[in-house]
Amino acid sequence: MPPTAAASTAHPAGPEPSVLVEDLRKTYGGKPALDGLDLAVPRGTVLGLLGPNGAGKTTAVRILTTLVRPDGGSARVAGHDVRREPRAVRRRIGLTGQHAAVDEILTARQNLEMFGRLFHLGRSRARERAAELLERFRLSEAADRQPKNFSGGMRRRLDLASSMILAPEVLFLDEPTTGLDPRGRSEVWESVRELAAGGTTVLLTTHYLDEADKLSDRIAVIDQGRNVTEDTPAGLKRAIGGDRLEVVVGEAADLPAVAAAVARVAADGAEPEISEGELRVHAPVSVGEQVAALTDVARRVQDEGIAVEDIGLRRPTLDEVFLTLTGHQTDQPGPAAKTGDDKEKEGVTA
Ligand SMILES: Nc1ncnc2c1ncn2[C@@H]1O[C@H](COP(=O)(O)OP(=O)(O)O)[C@@H](O)[C@H]1O
Ligand SMILES: [Mg+2]
Repeated sequence: MPPTAAASTAHPAGPEPSVLVEDLRKTYGGKPALDGLDLAVPRGTVLGLLGPNGAGKTTAVRILTTLVRPDGGSARVAGHDVRREPRAVRRRIGLTGQHAAVDEILTARQNLEMFGRLFHLGRSRARERAAELLERFRLSEAADRQPKNFSGGMRRRLDLASSMILAPEVLFLDEPTTGLDPRGRSEVWESVRELAAGGTTVLLTTHYLDEADKLSDRIAVIDQGRNVTEDTPAGLKRAIGGDRLEVVVGEAADLPAVAAAVARVAADGAEPEISEGELRVHAPVSVGEQVAALTDVARRVQDEGIAVEDIGLRRPTLDEVFLTLTGHQTDQPGPAAKTGDDKEKEGVTA
């Protein structure tokens, strides 16, 4: 649903979205990184911007946070045009990784107080704000330790806290959990949920379907700088067809029998896919019927005396999501992808 109403005029449907992007374009070396992107994030909601490497997620975030100028289209954040009013935009936003230079010598508390002073808070206000944020991001106990001794999740929460010093209207998180272990990821997720519950508008990029699913009110799927689809997490999962049931056998000769068993429980008569090389059969199963499907197939193959190496349910990979949504596999990122992405990662993950 591309937003069409002119941003400067009153929105008939209510207040202007906190992020409003129309036909956004950016080209690097003749290759489009953004090729007509549209986004609208209503105030107080979380949009997950989901796409494979090279899709244009970071480029979109950099434009929306005024770090890069677009070549075309328009982008408004918190009611201000990123090109014409970059200072007004910057005053109203936070960006994780913006302060990649979290000081290693200072403690977590001292870091936050220092950022407060940098943003012109008075000494006592800075101290107060630091204490609030330490509490909010569950860093109070670690407050007087140096971040170099933090786990990945704690470190990322300190990043989040430092991007929240001025209580931004809109918070941008570019792949907030990339590189974290499962525990660190769920810690960061919890913090993002709390922020959203407190009314902050959040735009987060990710290439993990489960992350977008867990955190977003709506998910915009993009590829090659363009919108692929946008929906609620539930709607998107319905469109994708739920989890995959996957069976790995020991002998290629058993593949047809296993495929037949899987076919009986596959969602909406979907054809099981057989990868002969990996001795693997998999098919989507309907939401709500996963466990019954798994049990049914397990019993059937056991009855037939088939040696199964592995059987289980797994979330569709992003590649499978794209295959389902677009009918084609995600394309390889362009030749420049590595450079741009690596450069960005350094800045974002610290
Ligand atoms: N500074 C840059 N210079 C050249 N190409 C870039 C630069 N930044 C991004 N790109 C290219 O733009 C495309 C989109 O990149 P990016 O926005 O980083 O995608 P994502 O964040 O979704 O992985 C990629 O093909 C990438 O190589
Ligand atoms: Mg990126």
